[in-house]
Amino acid sequence: MNILITGAGRGIGLGFVINYLSRDHTVYACYRSKSAALSTLAEKYHQLKLVQWDVTCPASENILASLPKQLDLLINNAGIYGPIKDGQSLRKITAEAMHEVFDVDCVAPLRVVQTLLPRLKMPGAIIANISSKMGSSSDNTSGGTYAYRAAKAALIIVSKSMAVDLQSDGINVITLHPGWVRTDMTNATGLVDVDESVAGMTSVIENINDYEPGDLVAYDGNKIAF
Ligand SMILES: NC(=O)c1ccc[n+]([C@@H]2O[C@H](COP(=O)([O-])OP(=O)(O)OC[C@H]3O[C@@H](n4cnc5c(N)ncnc54)[C@H](OP(=O)(O)O)[C@@H]3O)[C@@H](O)[C@H]2O)c1
Repeated sequence: MNILITGAGRGIGLGFVINYLSRDHTVYACYRSKSAALSTLAEKYHQLKLVQWDVTCPASENILASLPKQLDLLINNAGIYGPIKDGQSLRKITAEAMHEVFDVDCVAPLRVVQTLLPRLKMPGAIIANISSKMGSSSDNTSGGTYAYRAAKAALIIVSKSMAVDLQSDGINVITLHPGWVRTDMTNATGLVDVDESVAGMTSVIENINDYEPGDLVAYDGNKIAF
């Protein structure tokens, strides 16, 4: 398969890269900042292609030229949390932070899909949008975290619309929750390792026909109400 992963330089994105390379797929790893881990992997795996793409920007001609004509799987993984500690409390959250997080976590995945749609295999391609349980209203019992919750909630809805709109083209869209994962985003305080989260989400992607288009599914295969 030809697989494109955004935000692939570290954390969960890098985990997806390693997972799919180990199974002989061709991986287009899109990164924003240079990543030593990706450079090392590229020396070992000829089927790893590195593409610098800050997904808050439209793809340049150079980026487009380095991407394949046909993609089987797109994983919209790049994301930011926004202000930490009480920086996303009701009293402290700012319009600037709301806009920045929304741009990366919701607008950018939509931009990536719009850009790559002509290259997605029809029928048969899969789009996996990495959102979060934090975007579920049903799950929100603790409040706060305005920017991240709102952006991830919006991504769930955008992903659902994509799923409905692309169904007739034979493109499957799913929204994933990676669990609470030990990465830079959580300051390594999560409950799950990247390997376990990625293995679980990869299995959900493989079994996508067990789910309704646009479902929000956790790494353990359980559906999450939103
Ligand atoms: N960790 C968790 O517990 C958890 C839980 C639920 C959902 N998620 C979601 O899972 C995804 C990955 O999270 P993570 O924990 O691996 O986070 P992370 O360790 O902070 O890594 C985030 C990745 O996204 C990239 N990125 C950020 N802004 C970007 C942009 N504008 N363009 C391109 N790449 C960009 C970063 O690149 P740079 O290196 O250049 O910054 C980095 O590679 C995110 O969408 C996150 O919201 C994570």
